[in-house]
Amino acid sequence: MGEVVALPQPEPPAEERPVLVVDLGGQYSQLIARRVRECRVYSELVGHGVTPEEVRARNPLALVLSGGPASVYAEVAPRIDPKLYELGVPTLGICYGMQLMARDLGGSVERTGVSEFGKTQVRVHEGALFSGLPEEQTTWMSHRDSVTAPPAGARVVAGSESTPIAAFEHAERKLYGVQFHPEVVHTPCGTEVLKNFLYSVADAPATWTAAAVIEEQVERIRAQVGSQRVLCALSGGVDSAVAALLVHKALGDQLTCVFVDHGLLRKDEAAQVVETFRGHFHVPLIHVDAEERFLARLEGVDDPEEKRTRIGEEFIRVFEAESRKLGAVKYLVQGTLYSDVIESGGTDGVAAKIKSHHNVGGLPEEMEMELVEPLRLLFKDEVRRVGEELGLPERMVWRHPFPGPGLAIRIIGEVTHERLEILREADSILLDEIRRAGLYRELWQCFAVLPAIRSVGVQGDERTYAYPIVIRAVTSEDAMTADWARLPYDLLETISSRIINEIPAVNRVALDISSKPPSTIEWE
Ligand code: XMP
Repeated sequence: MGEVVALPQPEPPAEERPVLVVDLGGQYSQLIARRVRECRVYSELVGHGVTPEEVRARNPLALVLSGGPASVYAEVAPRIDPKLYELGVPTLGICYGMQLMARDLGGSVERTGVSEFGKTQVRVHEGALFSGLPEEQTTWMSHRDSVTAPPAGARVVAGSESTPIAAFEHAERKLYGVQFHPEVVHTPCGTEVLKNFLYSVADAPATWTAAAVIEEQVERIRAQVGSQRVLCALSGGVDSAVAALLVHKALGDQLTCVFVDHGLLRKDEAAQVVETFRGHFHVPLIHVDAEERFLARLEGVDDPEEKRTRIGEEFIRVFEAESRKLGAVKYLVQGTLYSDVIESGGTDGVAAKIKSHHNVGGLPEEMEMELVEPLRLLFKDEVRRVGEELGLPERMVWRHPFPGPGLAIRIIGEVTHERLEILREADSILLDEIRRAGLYRELWQCFAVLPAIRSVGVQGDERTYAYPIVIRAVTSEDAMTADWARLPYDLLETISSRIINEIPAVNRVALDISSKPPSTIEWE
């Protein structure tokens, strides 16, 4: 059996010098990189072990030292090579990053007994970071230690009531520190502070746009693939759709998309994929209607993991069979995102290992192919913007995450054609009403669940014995944690009566009011 080989991606061209965010273990490191990119400056995360030589080789526009949970004096505290401060690269330390700078450069950090968590008023005296901003600012803090003396030669430029040194700057050496978190939304001026650092201090041009990403990726894809043929598995989700469109833009009909329709998608979704790709974009597309095969494999199965395994295996089987028909194809498109690359610890071109149960929908590991990964440098919100720029319909671009095994893990019990139809209908009514109420984009995910149990009801003069439908609607930042969405009662009432009136097999609607943890978003 061969292996899936990931080609190292070429470095971004010199005119796109990155801002490197040095990860010191804080929960917001990725968010900092995203915020910098939102300012249209390309940014990447690097480990704190990064050497001065590696940094010099990347020729960064600036460095940002992230926050972190440790105390700078702790034995296990992450540190950076102090020679990084000598490179002449503008550097911004945030929270722990600021404290580390102070400690490394002749200042001091102490546990003063005063900690600040949450909203904190800061008074700004001066400084390039705060140029054009009000003197009084609300910021978001999260620290126990405080800087009690700034680095030698640095000036204190902001303070809060309990933390006199909330920001410092050393303009000559281009070293800056802020105790608060400019990257979180609870710091209203945070983006402006970052922009001041990026545009004024680091002189970074705002050139990282969706159009620029497309242009660059198209070039890279052409350089990697040449005149060879490429295969892409479409799942209906935004990642594979955008990856496929980028490759199609670069290579035209050298690309063939295979859409394995396992029959576990939402209502009208399969038709929409076919219409969008074949009809609108004229992408060569093989639509495999494999519902029967998948349902046969799921017969009698009610264990969630067993469902996942069987669906995953069957997916690969169908995909392989289709690709074999096309003859030898050397390249496989995969919608790996930057967050997958970071999570697998490989920002250096090593193949991303995605959580195993998240692989359904395009990972035939046993095929000898080279990967084309045009989203490897992008965060999810950037993928969406690129999708919009490429003309992908709004509905596809902003679609909620949908699990690879699809509705199979939203039917609690055995998956049958009849239950799928009921669930599809209920889900469609739910989403229809959520969209109509203008709430779709505010929710991370919203869907219907069909527990295959039945309960008694009464409709007209008849006793009914039918299925319940559970409404699951959650808000979340990243699916790691989630809260149940407080949907308006009137809306819930409309959804409930429509589902019960329009679907004869349902006589009850319940609302899931559990957060994650301890529950999960999906029911299986
Ligand atoms: P949970 O249910 O673990 O889900 O809170 C977190 C996120 O992952 C999605 N999910 C899956 N995605 N295959 C996927 O591709 C799966 O088997 C799977 N299970 C959960 C879920 O929809 C949510 O966004």
